Amino acid sequence: MLKSERLHVVDHPLSRQKLAVLRDENTRQREFRQAMRELALVLVSEAARRMPTEAVRVNTPLAPTEVHRISEPVCLVPVLRAGLGMLDGALALLPEATVGFIGLFRDEETALPVEYYANLPRELERYRVMVLDPMLATGGSLSATLAKLKDHGARRISCVSAVAAVPGVERVLRDHPDVDLYVGVVDPELDDRAFIVPGLGDAGDRLYGTL
Ligand code: PRP
Repeated sequence: MLKSERLHVVDHPLSRQKLAVLRDENTRQREFRQAMRELALVLVSEAARRMPTEAVRVNTPLAPTEVHRISEPVCLVPVLRAGLGMLDGALALLPEATVGFIGLFRDEETALPVEYYANLPRELERYRVMVLDPMLATGGSLSATLAKLKDHGARRISCVSAVAAVPGVERVLRDHPDVDLYVGVVDPELDDRAFIVPGLGDAGDRLYGTL
């Protein structure tokens, strides 16, 4: 079994429950989208665990007290298109976050990532960056995304995925040993089309009905 202090498998009754819905081939588009949003809430909560906070004073209706606020700006980066299925949940928890976008698709013949869009904030080094993509299969898309983000200055990056495959996790940890991965579950293998097995199918198609 894979072991790395950079790999965080978020095994919680709630993530299990959401993955049970997402994996089931009988789950329809609407429930699939809802479960992906809800799984994002669980995973992003965990991925935010190490964000720095700072003490500030507020007055409650009864007395002054010290409270703690996240002290660094956060940039969420959904990888189009399936990553959009996690954005809403992430923004529910981090409503002040800046959002950057990377558009990639996997060539169906070669399984290699093809970039078609990028729109990122300037001075990415100022942010804690959180990449959102439900599926980490060969790791090609995430590795390319991370390289791009680093080119733009990103230094503190974590990635959130619903389902990761062992080869993809190994690839990303090898290419980017400074990045933390937060995943709902790690599946053992890929099939000959580089789909995660057992996985949950094509997340983008199931989110947006393009089956
Ligand atoms: C899926 C998924 C990842 C990528 C994972 O996207 O959302 O971005 O494939 O595969 P990899 O780890 O082997 O690179 P897809 O290409 O299906 O595009 P879509 O989100 O637009 O449907």
